[in-house]
Amino acid sequence: MSQSIETRCIHGDIHKYREDSRAISFPIYQTASFSHMEPGHNGSGFDYTRESNPTRSRVEETVASLENAAEAVAFSSGMAAITACFELFRPGDHVICSEDLYGGTVRLFHNISEKNGLVIDFVDSTDLNAVKAAIRPATKAIYVETPSNPMMNVTDLRGCAALAKAHGALLIVDNTFLSPYFQNPIDLGADIVLHSGSKFLGGHNDTISGFLCTADQELGDRVRLIAKTLGNTLAPFDSWLVLRGLKTLAVRMERQQKTALTLAIWLSAQPWVKKVYHIGLPDHPGYEVNAGQSRGFGSTFSFAVDSKETALKILQGVRLITFAESLGGTESLITYPVVQTHPDVPAEVREHLGITDTLLRLSVGLENEMDLIADLKAVTED
Ligand SMILES: Cc1ncc(COP(=O)(O)O)c(C=O)c1O
Repeated sequence: MSQSIETRCIHGDIHKYREDSRAISFPIYQTASFSHMEPGHNGSGFDYTRESNPTRSRVEETVASLENAAEAVAFSSGMAAITACFELFRPGDHVICSEDLYGGTVRLFHNISEKNGLVIDFVDSTDLNAVKAAIRPATKAIYVETPSNPMMNVTDLRGCAALAKAHGALLIVDNTFLSPYFQNPIDLGADIVLHSGSKFLGGHNDTISGFLCTADQELGDRVRLIAKTLGNTLAPFDSWLVLRGLKTLAVRMERQQKTALTLAIWLSAQPWVKKVYHIGLPDHPGYEVNAGQSRGFGSTFSFAVDSKETALKILQGVRLITFAESLGGTESLITYPVVQTHPDVPAEVREHLGITDTLLRLSVGLENEMDLIADLKAVTED
């Protein structure tokens, strides 16, 4: 029987792998290559680090175990993972995407994927009828973020999985915002789960990584061949940093979630806040759907303030919260999506989605909640 998720964060799949030296902290295999015993027989299962490396294998097995996946492949960034994922498709293939996505993903689709012949439609994936209506004979995948970055839109994963299956297409879910601790899309019918491991998995704002997790082995083998061919795999030291980060995933997620909800409730009561987009607040339109498919709501959310001046005053005035892009780490970060994460999304699309110059995204870290509130108070009350 598989261990609980908290235990697997620390030990991975305990039945699968033991390190020969019995080191408690898995070693960093800082080597480019591995010696062969005889032609065609390497003795260790490892040839060359671009293709595979024990430290990377260890973090891949741990992430696969957390996502209930048959296979996980570790990449040098979340974008590297998404790039590899899109190598599964051919010119002429059609992909349906959530209209609200991390801006780098949109940039990849417009600058690279479309150039390579993929046809991509952006739809409001919170509306299953809109997803269904977008399906064509050439549709090969439905690609969603739930909750989405930065508008925190929630997509019904079981509903999308049913639509994808009925059409023989893949459901691909970017699970970065909730992490496997709170959500396991494969259990709901997804075929591929991806992560920017630079966020909650690494968890300390100190490394960049990405993961593709597959529901079945055949798809996992295809992804692994793409990774080996593209060569955008995760280095041994970064693999180790993610392994170390994962050990505390459960406690970080719980604590950060609690603090974030306190901040969201506090912000909702401030006269200079127009709207708080937090999926743990019962008035969020995706509250019920999220509650039915996940075990929590994470610690990243967005809020709209009354003017651009207020937004800039907060960004430039906070002292404890850092004005920086990224999320999911121990340090609280505040981000200006319109300029930092989504500048490559066309202006009219940003406007339609609500990514305006009054929108701020907050990733709540592990600091004391009263200190974080005091930081925001000090800027907005002077
Ligand atoms: C939801 C989401 N997916 C993917 C990425 C890309 O990941 P990375 O920055 O590790 O390349 C990000 C980055 O912010 C993200 O927020």
